[in-house]
Amino acid sequence: MLTVDNINLHYGAAQALRGVSITAPMGRITCVLGRNGVGKSSLLRAITGQQAVSAGAIAFNGATLNGLAPYARAKHGIGYVPQGREIFPLLTVKENLETGFAPLGRKEKFIPDDIFALFPVLNSMLSRRGGDLSGGQQQQLAIGRAMVTRPKILVLDEPTEGIQPSIIKDIGRAIRYLRDSTGMAILLVEQYLDFCRELADHVYIMDRGEIVHEGAAETLDTAEARRHLTV
Ligand SMILES: Nc1ncnc2c1ncn2[C@@H]1O[C@H](COP(=O)(O)OP(=O)(O)OP(=O)(O)O)[C@@H](O)[C@H]1O
Ligand SMILES: [Mg+2]
Repeated sequence: MLTVDNINLHYGAAQALRGVSITAPMGRITCVLGRNGVGKSSLLRAITGQQAVSAGAIAFNGATLNGLAPYARAKHGIGYVPQGREIFPLLTVKENLETGFAPLGRKEKFIPDDIFALFPVLNSMLSRRGGDLSGGQQQQLAIGRAMVTRPKILVLDEPTEGIQPSIIKDIGRAIRYLRDSTGMAILLVEQYLDFCRELADHVYIMDRGEIVHEGAAETLDTAEARRHLTV
């Protein structure tokens, strides 16, 4: 289980997170909903170690993550699919996937077959440059690359952003498969309410750097969620 306990995060004098606490249990999909600029990516950057917190604690399966570099957190099993995908445009699809080898031991440095079962398009484009893929294909590549690291928790930042419905469906199917087949934890940040409700087990709503609402996905107050999602 990932535990985020009462964290603050600052950019200079500006505070982006205020006393944020969430948990993401193993075998569950946890979703954080919120509109632009409320601090969703900041929360994920705090978890993955891209940005230091100014207060509070972050732990995964009992190990404290505070102060660890992103690389060390990957070794603890934190897989990250950043907003905007951040694939390497000049590397091939295969080379992009292989960048996920970094935290792995020698015997684990191979690309698991289930990545190609979930995203067949990657298999058919292995030698194509990442930058030549469509946005939807790049998103699949970014998820595949995170899967290569054999994460115990997969953290995804708005995977549906700018993606067409058929590929959103594929991504939803992949996320469900990962939860059910491996029992990993999934932490998903979204603005797309329906995607989140269909997929998530538990939902948090963020507004202006704070968690303002939480509950089981089935009982989510959608009116309340919509209120926080519209500007
Ligand atoms: N590197 C940075 N330096 C200064 N301020 C930042 C930085 N990154 C984010 N911020 C500010 O922190 C706040 C939260 O930003 P964040 O990117 O976490 O929001 P978000 O919920 O992910 O938004 P979006 O849905 O648009 O991706 C915003 O006010 C943003 O302008
Ligand atoms: Mg963001």
